[in-house]
Amino acid sequence: MHKDVKKVLVSQEAIIARCEELGKQISDEYRKIESTPLLVALLKGSVPFLAELVKHIDLDIQFDFMDVSSYEGTESIGDIRVDKDLDCSVKGIDILLVEDIVDTGRTLLEVTKLLKNKGARDVKVVSLLDKPDRRVVDIKADYVGFEVPNEFVVGFGLDFDQKYRNLPYVGVLKDEVYQ
Ligand code: XMP
Repeated sequence: MHKDVKKVLVSQEAIIARCEELGKQISDEYRKIESTPLLVALLKGSVPFLAELVKHIDLDIQFDFMDVSSYEGTESIGDIRVDKDLDCSVKGIDILLVEDIVDTGRTLLEVTKLLKNKGARDVKVVSLLDKPDRRVVDIKADYVGFEVPNEFVVGFGLDFDQKYRNLPYVGVLKDEVYQ
């Protein structure tokens, strides 16, 4: 375990096993509606999750990336700014948004609206983590890896000050790291 980590909340083994389950469920459900989704991953946090998840999706999917940020501070607020837009058109396309964590839900709400405005036919969401206690808007991921308590988490894509994204598990940092 990394020296700055206080506890592991979700192990690497558990993440891989859950990605396998989610991949099967996603493949089955999109196959049933005869659709092949475009996976849109939000940079940078969702990259490790996307990389693991796509190995278990048995459909000819494509993926693309978007980078968005909220206008103010660390707490995400209403509007978002698009720092990197998609390379391809989404008109008439079924999108599966790939997120690292749903916290207040504002990012997802705004990105979903934006993609629908661009003409996407449908937008569903898969998130590695869900922090339901923090939700302030009425949005729910269609597929969730794990629910986590209301604690700041790092690893498997999630960062503190851009660090710890490469940890192969999701954990909580020691208090002294924040001082
Ligand atoms: P909202 O609040 O819009 O925000 O759902 C989602 C984004 O906030 C970041 N976030 C976290 N990042 N540990 C992190 O490293 C956390 O515990 C955490 N909670 C929220 C993250 O970028 C996510 O995409």
